[in-house]
Amino acid sequence: MFDLSGRAALVTGAGQNAGAGIARALAARGAAVAVNDLVPERAEAVSGGITASGGTAVPVAFDVTDLDAVREGVARARAELGRHVDILVHNAGIPADFGQGPFRTLAPGRWRGPVEINLFGAMNCVSAVVDDMCEAGWGRIVQISSGAARTGSDQGLSLYGAAKSGVEGFIRHLSQELAPSGVTANTLALGLQTNAAGDATEVFAAKIPTRRLGTPEDVGAAVVYLASPEASWMTGQTLNLNGGSVTT
Ligand SMILES: NC(=O)c1ccc[n+]([C@@H]2O[C@H](COP(=O)([O-])OP(=O)(O)OC[C@H]3O[C@@H](n4cnc5c(N)ncnc54)[C@H](O)[C@@H]3O)[C@@H](O)[C@H]2O)c1
Repeated sequence: MFDLSGRAALVTGAGQNAGAGIARALAARGAAVAVNDLVPERAEAVSGGITASGGTAVPVAFDVTDLDAVREGVARARAELGRHVDILVHNAGIPADFGQGPFRTLAPGRWRGPVEINLFGAMNCVSAVVDDMCEAGWGRIVQISSGAARTGSDQGLSLYGAAKSGVEGFIRHLSQELAPSGVTANTLALGLQTNAAGDATEVFAAKIPTRRLGTPEDVGAAVVYLASPEASWMTGQTLNLNGGSVTT
């Protein structure tokens, strides 16, 4: 079960935290993994860790918001792994300027960052891999989202929430178009992770029914399921992975 050997995966923003956990988990199930990050040293470190543990990985640094760079990076991954991308996990979602704060305080120049990386980043990556998946008759697209997509808060997350809601809608519609081709598309909406900074994280953790924040291993395990051959009837869904903090 959940055997990914013979498959190639591309994980964006995989140079640390959740993305690194996803890359390691997919590699542990046998996938050859293209480890993407904007920061080359991060991609190299995670890729090197996977190969040192006996897995197959290559670093492919590029900016997911730059369509030409994405196309070039996907071509490089294909050449170095010797196979087209069967599994895309678009995890990069935190831009350098997160655009956090009450909307009234955010200048228009800051509105695009979260939308560019989440929504256009997803479109860029999907467009670069989806034709190969459809032609092969098999593919898995996993989008990483957040509880902020569907639950309002007073934490200054309106731009981020808008971007995540947008990409959830994109994946939902995409799933309907791709299903007859054997390609699934799902979203994994995360609750607060251990790497989230701030004094409030302990307070938030205490309010989560499981009494802890999410880990890269939690995220990796869920992605392995969504990427697996066994998940062929799971498509168009948004799964919450949040320790029970939101149950609808
Ligand atoms: N951390 C949390 O508490 C939390 C909660 C809910 C959802 N999420 C989501 O989980 C995902 C991962 O979050 P994280 O906290 O692990 O992120 P992170 O910021 O720790 O790591 C993401 C990586 O993405 C890279 N990156 C940034 N911009 C990029 C770009 N344009 N192209 C390629 N790579 C880029 C960064 O260099 C970084 O290494 C994101 O989609 C985020 O929105 C995180």
